[in-house]
Amino acid sequence: MSTSIESVLVENRVFPPNDDFVRNATVAGMDAYKALYKEAEDDFEGFWKRQANEHLRWIKPFTQVLDDSAAPFYKWFADGELNVSYNCLDKHVVEGRGDQTAIIFEGDDGAVTPVTFKQLLARVSRFANGLKQAGYKKGDTAIIYLPMSIEAVVAMQACARLGIIHSVVFGGFSAKSLHERIVDVGASLVITSDGQYRGGKALPLKPAVDDALAQENTEKVRSVIVYRRTGGDISWTEGRDIWWSDFEDGQSDVCEPVAMNSEDPLFILYTSGSTGKPKGVQHSSAGYLLWAQLTVKWTFDQKPGDVFWCTADVGWITGHTYVTYGPLAAGLTQVVFEGVPTYPNAGRFWEMIGRHKVTTFYTAPTAIRSLIKASEADAKVHPDSFDLSSLRIIGSVGEPINPEAWVWYYKNVGKERCPIVDTWWQTETGGQMITPLPGATPLKPGSCTLPLPGIFASIVDETGEDVPNGKGGFLVVKKPWPAMIRNVWGDNERYKNSYFPSEFRGYYLAGDGAQRDADGYFWIMGRIDDVLNVSGHRLGTMEVESALVSHELVAEAAVVGRPDATTGEAVVAFVVLKRERPHGDEAKEIAKQLRDWVAKEIGPIAKPKDIRFGDNLPKTRSGKIMRRLLRVVAKGEEVTQDVSTLENPAILDQLTESV
Ligand code: PRX
Repeated sequence: MSTSIESVLVENRVFPPNDDFVRNATVAGMDAYKALYKEAEDDFEGFWKRQANEHLRWIKPFTQVLDDSAAPFYKWFADGELNVSYNCLDKHVVEGRGDQTAIIFEGDDGAVTPVTFKQLLARVSRFANGLKQAGYKKGDTAIIYLPMSIEAVVAMQACARLGIIHSVVFGGFSAKSLHERIVDVGASLVITSDGQYRGGKALPLKPAVDDALAQENTEKVRSVIVYRRTGGDISWTEGRDIWWSDFEDGQSDVCEPVAMNSEDPLFILYTSGSTGKPKGVQHSSAGYLLWAQLTVKWTFDQKPGDVFWCTADVGWITGHTYVTYGPLAAGLTQVVFEGVPTYPNAGRFWEMIGRHKVTTFYTAPTAIRSLIKASEADAKVHPDSFDLSSLRIIGSVGEPINPEAWVWYYKNVGKERCPIVDTWWQTETGGQMITPLPGATPLKPGSCTLPLPGIFASIVDETGEDVPNGKGGFLVVKKPWPAMIRNVWGDNERYKNSYFPSEFRGYYLAGDGAQRDADGYFWIMGRIDDVLNVSGHRLGTMEVESALVSHELVAEAAVVGRPDATTGEAVVAFVVLKRERPHGDEAKEIAKQLRDWVAKEIGPIAKPKDIRFGDNLPKTRSGKIMRRLLRVVAKGEEVTQDVSTLENPAILDQLTESV
């Protein structure tokens, strides 16, 4: 365990919830939290059985709660049947909430389109009927490559209605990344748009689909459904491409939901790991939905009348669980936003909170940090210049939030009245795992506090033994939970090796380092593997390295993360060219080429912030790249460690020079 994990600064300010909040909360006070936690401890299966029966509508009730006979391939509610889209839509219509607004969509340009549960159900049904007519059915796989829109939610829900397994690819990913995912899931369908608006600009999306489908192993794709968002000319493949509007034209508003087994995959979402290509994280239907709905209820304390806004894109897990599935299943009214936080100015989020009377706001520390900067430079975009009185709860997700940003968020956005829920979780966990409950948990800035009821999180050493409070270790979850990853798509071995390595006694290994303080609060220290977290997005250093070395000029590359005041971490690449080391303008020009190359290979989020050229990389005499050393060099710190085992210590001087 690295020393940085042991030595992290532990904040000691504590912010208890106010009495009013506690009185009205779903989980009211620490005793209520502890009682729920204890219920799960004392009767693990009974606890989950109760939750699943109370929160989900079943077509066929389950009789078995947990099947661990093939652990770590767990099954939950395995003989039950339900339909996820029914639970998100029909349920509310049947129960009399059909006229309630489900989504308030705000476009990049500020145009607002509301849709009720009844209307959303009709739209999902029409689209699903179109899919049925085109011959798509349960077990097929679809790629969704859409901007934030009502259509993205409709596409995902329509797939869920028919049992088509979707895999959403974030619109910022390149044609190459898209191609890899199309091939890996074996997609027969792609749902996309001509383009998207971001920050006042129309950006194309369809060309990346055309590009991806021109490459090998994509013959299975029979249809590309194109939602017209930006207009303008796009290339068209007759017989394959069809406009969204033509596709659903004339379809009935009624579509019978297909009965799905609890364990049927709902979706596959790719995320970076420490080795190789991104992993297709496979999620289930019932267990996933249960946790999406339950965490909305607990962590966000949502009630009728709440207006929920999660700013994440549906291309990430946060957008799956806290846009498409959780809020709909919980029957909330939610804001879906197409644009960026800084357009037309950095007051956009705060203005929208006022306009839509948002009560619950959930965003990433990176966004908060960049808005702090902007509001320091211009009072007009400071939260104080907007009406934020509707807010009740504010949340944070995706990366550690530094105590300074936490306190700013608490004071300026939450007005010292709204609890902050700093939620720790992952693509693989399906939903939030370690988080405060707003009406119960006393908050400490920078800590995600305590595990939710039913989640047996702990910190262990490399043998799986619990470490005492105050000592760093590996974050694990000791028991399975319903929303956990079910497999790495098509790769049982990778699933087992990545998440259940044998030395950890069958515990789920999260890949984060953490420690607990004297109160048992969890403090996340960041990844223990070669995964970076840039603006809350996961990136494997290996992915960026392989993108770099696939460029014709590059002989070798090593990528590390460096702390960054805005994006949390920044990508720093150390590169050895096949030719001599470049200098001055030439070095700048090549660095630019390499950045653009990485954007094309993976996506703009993976672009190295800093590229440094050397004649070689620092290696041990056995040829291993000394990444630990590179991390120090990347930070601009002096190298104090012993470099006597280095083959070529002089190389370090070259690598301290930024281009
Ligand atoms: O390192 C942790 C960090 O983000 C990783 C998971 O990334 P991803 O699968 O992309 O999911 C992000 C959205 C849930 C974790 O392994 N992380 C996430 N939330 C927090 C966090 N680190 C600290 N505090 C958090 N609240």
